[in-house]
Amino acid sequence: MKVTVVGAGAVGASCAEYIAMKNFASEVVLLDIKEGYAEGKAMDLMQTASLMGFDTKITGSTNDYGKTANSDVAVITSGIPRKPGMTREELIGINAGIVKTVATSLLEHSPNATIIVVSNPMDTMTYLVHKATGLPKNKIIGMGGALDSARFKYRLAEALGAPISDVDGMVIGGHSDVGMVPLIGHATRNSVKVSEFLSEEKMEWVVEETKVGGATLTKLLGTSAWYAPGAAVSSMVQAIVCDQKKMFPCSTMLDGEYGLSDICIGVPVILGKDGIEQIVEIELSDAEKAKMQESAEGVKKTNGLLQV
Ligand code: LAC
Repeated sequence: MKVTVVGAGAVGASCAEYIAMKNFASEVVLLDIKEGYAEGKAMDLMQTASLMGFDTKITGSTNDYGKTANSDVAVITSGIPRKPGMTREELIGINAGIVKTVATSLLEHSPNATIIVVSNPMDTMTYLVHKATGLPKNKIIGMGGALDSARFKYRLAEALGAPISDVDGMVIGGHSDVGMVPLIGHATRNSVKVSEFLSEEKMEWVVEETKVGGATLTKLLGTSAWYAPGAAVSSMVQAIVCDQKKMFPCSTMLDGEYGLSDICIGVPVILGKDGIEQIVEIELSDAEKAKMQESAEGVKKTNGLLQV
């Protein structure tokens, strides 16, 4: 199985690293426009192979999409990350053109690839890839919910004073500071609802910290995060490459599900060899439905800024 990661920045390189460490793909191609950069990252990563015990072959390419030919999965991380104080939506002007070019270049050489979009504003970039390529909707997947849910579990474990493996929870909605909908009412510690352990205030704290998870890191790091985004993408790639039928909240094109249409937004889906194999419709409370609706309005507003 061959995986291409476009953009050899921090997120792309972390993604390639985690894919290699999990040892499930035969080949990873890292591609970047900066001369020699992807080749350098690939070589550095390959020099960890004997130390870390992986056999995945990682190669780099300076903007030569010929080297990505016949990829099964392609990840788009290209574009600029946000700086402290910026919203993801503010990146649309620069990133839309880049993402469109990358998606069409990828498909010229890998017409059967499943595409995972990471570039921000992610839900809108996922929508753009749909409009620009016309690929079937199961083949275009936005990465947001897998990352936001990991951040949710981190905060839940912190609030509960529990190990992460004890907690489960999911974030749906748009991948934005205001649009995320952490499903606190569904979150559990070993199948017991977290409301059994946490006060209303503590649960509210978990929800708010989760929503600004990316912004908190951007403030601390001076740029956006990469380990958790890279790990989240690698888990999604693994679910597809290994046909795991694993459930993740992902940005997907909706056609009536959750009462929404003509929008890409985070909802639970089953990932397997055919990409998004099923959209899972779960029962939401009236408050959760209202938050989802509000989140969708935000995403649609950003989509309205696209020129497609
Ligand atoms: C984040 C970026 C990847 O949330 O959107 O860290």
